[in-house]
Amino acid sequence: MTTTWAPSSWRAYPAAQQPLWPDDAALAGVLKHLGTLPPLVFAGEARSLTSALAQVADGRAFLLQAGDCAESFDAFSADGIRDRLKVILQMAIVLSYSSGVPIVKVGRIAGQFAKPRSSDTEMIDGVEYPSFRGHIVNDIPPTAAARLPDPARLLQAYHQSASTLNLLRAFVKGGFADLSQVHQWNQEFVGSSREGQRYEQLADEIDRALRFMRSCGIASETQPSLHEVDFFTSHEALLLGYEEALTRQDSLTGHWYDCSAHMVWIGERTRQLDGAHVEFFRGIHNPIGCKIGPTATAEEVLDLCEALDPHRIPGRLTLITRMGADHIEDGLRPLLAAVRDAGRSVVWACDPMHGNTFTAAGGRKTRHLDAVLAEIGGFFAAHQAEGTWPGGVHVELTGDNVTECLGGAEEIVDADLEARYETICDPRLNGRQSVDLAFRVSELLKR
Ligand code: PEP
Ligand code: CO
Repeated sequence: MTTTWAPSSWRAYPAAQQPLWPDDAALAGVLKHLGTLPPLVFAGEARSLTSALAQVADGRAFLLQAGDCAESFDAFSADGIRDRLKVILQMAIVLSYSSGVPIVKVGRIAGQFAKPRSSDTEMIDGVEYPSFRGHIVNDIPPTAAARLPDPARLLQAYHQSASTLNLLRAFVKGGFADLSQVHQWNQEFVGSSREGQRYEQLADEIDRALRFMRSCGIASETQPSLHEVDFFTSHEALLLGYEEALTRQDSLTGHWYDCSAHMVWIGERTRQLDGAHVEFFRGIHNPIGCKIGPTATAEEVLDLCEALDPHRIPGRLTLITRMGADHIEDGLRPLLAAVRDAGRSVVWACDPMHGNTFTAAGGRKTRHLDAVLAEIGGFFAAHQAEGTWPGGVHVELTGDNVTECLGGAEEIVDADLEARYETICDPRLNGRQSVDLAFRVSELLKR
């Protein structure tokens, strides 16, 4: 790689997973327009997240990164945004209350639209169509028109991200995240379940503590830390033209930031050392993530660390491992040891979703909560064995009462998947399964 970098320097490298846009001029027009639109986040906010993640890297905080596999243009509503935020706040409170560890909250939201695919095309009823690559590129129905990549979708994704982020900011700074609201975050369908009731007990304890603090003169209205939370956004920065258009030079530091989100990550399929994604990411100053799958070697991981974090900035790099429950313990330990022995400080996060996906008998893509929990268990065990800090979890969830992942206290089985299978991409944990997972992780954290 050359030492000079510009937001466009990735263009000289092979870029995997880019759509085959039918009209280059139309794409160029949209990207030019995007480049004139306001940034979605401010560089100073990205720096705050880097600082928060530095605490995680140092073993003093825990990262909860969660949200949709792919946000949808169709299922876009205030209620949907609110309910996803509710379940994340709920999980964060379970984790921090039980473990005493501060939780850094990062949503897969307000920009998580583009999806990598295993093949450029797919066969449906004997006809070959371009694969669905997320609503930022094309649409799901198997017709030539719907599947044709349309650059106007880049603008729609930008505007949907802007209004999602606007509402999130209003919620987290405007009183919705006030600790006195803990009961309100428990949705009805969660509250009636075993894990929902466990959550209610915890919320009652928090209420009692808040009443006590109020009697001592400490009220949430006057204490910003009780009244509001920091909530950050993230997505896989897959479509490099889009990300380039939103990359801006910070007037305070002169550094470049990808202002499409606070944090962006490189997917498992696009982390080639000599590829365009690594080239783009090395020059932006946001905190960044990189997925690490079961085939990654220690050498590859160290090379990625060097390419992406040459200045060894604490909080800069999060390695998101997604090995699968069967591979995690043996697969992860050599990587942890190599990074530790190289004297590097990174955030290690566990994505227990993407290595545990399979197709159920009825043809639905799914995951079993037991495998998800087993991978998290293996992740903690590997860290314990190597003396490193299990920094966080990265999960796909929704606030809705969907039936996409198997298992959990309500024992979702194959035959239930059809009932409310609503994802446009990978299967997500529903609200109950998410709260259940938070309690399990809090038990691991407490040890
Ligand atoms: C994802 O996070 O939705 C994803 C596609 O993950 P990965 O790159 O790890 O396969
Ligand atoms: Co996914």
